[in-house]
Amino acid sequence: MSVNREKLGALLKWYRQEIKDDLIAAIIVNRDGLIMDSISGSGDKSVEEDIVGGLSALVEPVLTRITQEFSSGSFGTGTFDTDAYRLIFCEAGPEAIFVTVLDSLAMIDPIFPLAYLTAEKISRIFDGRTVSPVIPKITSLKSDPHIERKIDTLQKIKINASEYAFKLVLGGDGGVGKTSMVHRFVEGKFATDYKETIGVSIMKKECDFEDLKTSVRFVLWDLAGQNQFKRVRKNYLGNAEAGLLVYDVTRKETYNNMKAWYEEMRVITPDIKLILIGNKIDLEDKKQVTREDGEKLAKELDISYIETSAKTGDNINDAFRTLALDLIKKFFITEEVL
Ligand code: GTP
Repeated sequence: MSVNREKLGALLKWYRQEIKDDLIAAIIVNRDGLIMDSISGSGDKSVEEDIVGGLSALVEPVLTRITQEFSSGSFGTGTFDTDAYRLIFCEAGPEAIFVTVLDSLAMIDPIFPLAYLTAEKISRIFDGRTVSPVIPKITSLKSDPHIERKIDTLQKIKINASEYAFKLVLGGDGGVGKTSMVHRFVEGKFATDYKETIGVSIMKKECDFEDLKTSVRFVLWDLAGQNQFKRVRKNYLGNAEAGLLVYDVTRKETYNNMKAWYEEMRVITPDIKLILIGNKIDLEDKKQVTREDGEKLAKELDISYIETSAKTGDNINDAFRTLALDLIKKFFITEEVL
């Protein structure tokens, strides 16, 4: 079923107009926290992607928590405060959640009915039902007992400040073992039947660091390595905080292509934390790329390097944990110092 994007866009614009200065962003996400549509408070298209991308790392762990706590699958509405923002979550039908991100000083109560009403409209748009994208004036809404009852049931969602989610992307030629690495890391399994990734597939996995009293949740975006997907990949690489650059130690050309992959990722996300991986080390007698070659390239690119086997599981966890630690250093430590 195709969603009426135009109507959705018009609705979000109405919503922004009604809330005015307090709105940082309004985001429609699916149940996995992936963004389906969004609008920023300023209306400046050039900064919109950055704002919304930055917020998705905040929205995702809250959503995961909501889904866990309301295991029936339905939570209605929720609010959540951080130092910088106030968030309102409203279910918008079975597929979508409407997230309003407000300035930390904003008053929730007058905005909530608008958020609720907009979520209802979003749900109708997703259902393909008739609906007007125009939002009526809030004063007439306050007397609506249905909405007042909803406000009573607002849930306060607390989340541990030490939980973070990062978007991680995997780059490297087709068949080097990206999907197998993700499967090994997420499920601890290795499958031998090779099916090439079509476009992108998304999974989640947490790395716990008990000694640091923190955990890092990766939202893993497994991108198709084949050239024909190059154009689509750009859309998925945006706002990634971390990336694995994977080559196959038994195929020299996949190693030779690493620089092109590095450039592709860096151009789109200059700040991305990367790690270089030589995979399939279990195939020792077929090795065409030595450990020294890997180390040399990693030094040139100024990133870490690790050799792995998705088949035996060798070093797979370590690869992800090394990256997680790099991210902890980059994000958490600077946060504490500031
Ligand atoms: P695309 O989806 O086309 O981008 O490929 P990919 O990089 O995700 O590769 P995938 O994980 O699908 O693996 C390709 C083939 O290599 C499969 O047949 C895997 O079973 C095999 N393979 C992956 N990792 C290893 C490994 O560590 N050792 C061995 N021996 N085979 C592996």
